[in-house]
This record gives sequence, structure tokens and C-alpha cells, in this order.
Amino acid sequence: MLTDEIETALDLTELERVMISRFANRFFLNREVDPAIVKGILNSARYAATGANVQPWRVHVAAGSARRQLIDAISTAHETSPGDHSSEYRYLPETLPEPFASRLREFGAVFFGSLGIGREDVAARAANTARNCRFFDAPVALIFTIDRRLERGSWLDLGMFIQNVMLAAKARGLDTCTQEFLSRYHAVIREELTLGPEELVVCTMAMGYGDPDWAKRRPQMPKVPVDEFASFYGL
Ligand SMILES: Cc1cc2nc3c(=O)[nH]c(=O)nc-3n(C[C@H](O)[C@H](O)[C@H](O)COP(=O)(O)O)c2cc1C
Repeated sequence: MLTDEIETALDLTELERVMISRFANRFFLNREVDPAIVKGILNSARYAATGANVQPWRVHVAAGSARRQLIDAISTAHETSPGDHSSEYRYLPETLPEPFASRLREFGAVFFGSLGIGREDVAARAANTARNCRFFDAPVALIFTIDRRLERGSWLDLGMFIQNVMLAAKARGLDTCTQEFLSRYHAVIREELTLGPEELVVCTMAMGYGDPDWAKRRPQMPKVPVDEFASFYGL
């Protein structure tokens, strides 16, 4: 879906169309993804730029019975002992400064509004959170890790790699939802998959063929216009 908000003097390239049409999809068809496609996406994504070419990412991909087992273990932990699990890093500060706090509030309103979930509907919100644990029922689950000995710079590189994965997937008709939420269940993930002790779980990703009905109805997350985040000098 291309939005009316996008104003540019240029015609969009094919790549830009892919960039603009990507969105965090949380509704997937019950349709398997050919493993060759997943490998092909990762093969293209690895060409991401990285400082000093250190290529700090590792990714663990689970489908079929491995994915089911992983989902069962995470869901059980979420149902029985959510308080025992926390991420190895902080994603956002405890107090979010402006303008970010307002954007977060707007995200909540758009997101929960699109699902018909009210502000006070604790049960429905919890059910939505639980869907995170099932990778939103997507057939492919990816876990992105980074070597904990690396510095912030390498986290930039990982982000570029993850973006490449999302765009390559979109270009092949696949949708994704990146998830920081599951980083709190790193101990469970570690038990189910083979992670080295140096690997820090940064985020996960649900990947699959998106539900076309939802794609038609889904809200466009508000995006800050260029003039609000860019300053131009001499052009
Ligand atoms: C690093 C990262 C972590 C995210 N974590 C979650 C998550 O845990 N659960 C979720 O439902 N969405 C998650 N999202 C999706 C964001 O909510 C979504 O990207 C944002 O609202 C913008 O919407 P759009 O991707 O559709 O443009 C995450 C996205 C990113 C990039």
C-alpha cells in the first residue's frame, strides 16, 4: 500500500516501492515458505554494509517442528513465569523524551485501534502480546543475535542486516514482523536452539506470506515527514 502522504518529485524506483510497501505484518497465511527462499533472502542480506566489514550478525532460523517446539517453550514460559525473564539489553529508556513519547502513544492508539482493542481491555492486550510468543503464527521464525563483546557500532550493522532481510523478503512477496519482545525469552531460546555463550539475543522476526485481507485493511503507521527530521544545507 502506498500512502497519499508520500510526496516526492521523483518517480519511485522498484526498490523504493518495496521499501514503502513493507510494514510490520502480524497476520500470516497458513502457507509454508520454501527453505530455498529463506536462504536466498539471507544470502542477499549478507551484503549489508558493516563498519570494518566485521559482519557481526548471527541468525537462527526455525520452521516446522523446530518452530513448534520453540513456540511451545516460549509460550509456556510466558504463561507460567513471565516475571522470571528479561532482555539482556534495554530497548527504550524508562522515560521516553519528546517527541518520541508522543509517537509511542500514537503507535499504541493506531495499533490497538486497528485491532478494535480498547485502552482498558487488558485481556485483549494480553492476548495480542501472547501472539508475539507464537511469532504471530508465521511459518518461519528468525532469531537475530550479536556477539556480546561487540560495541554499539556493530548493533548498527545488525540493524542494516535486519532491514535487508525485511526488504528482500518483501521483494519476494513475504511479510515480516521484527520483534524485540522475545529478546526477554533468550534463556528459553538458548535451551531450544544452539546458541554460543557469546551470543546475545537482540530480536526475533516472524516471516511468512501475509494475509491479503489484512493488507487491505491494515493501518499505515504514521511516518514523520522528511522536513521534520532532515536539515538541508546548500541544497
Ligand atoms: C527492532 C524492532 C523491534 C520491534 N519489536 C516488535 C515487537 O516486539 N512486537 C511487535 O508486535 N512489533 C514490533 N516491531 C514492529 C514495530 O511496532 C513497527 O515496525 C512500527 O510500529 C512501525 O510500523 P511499520 O513497520 O508497519 O512501518 C518492532 C520493530 C522493530 C524495527
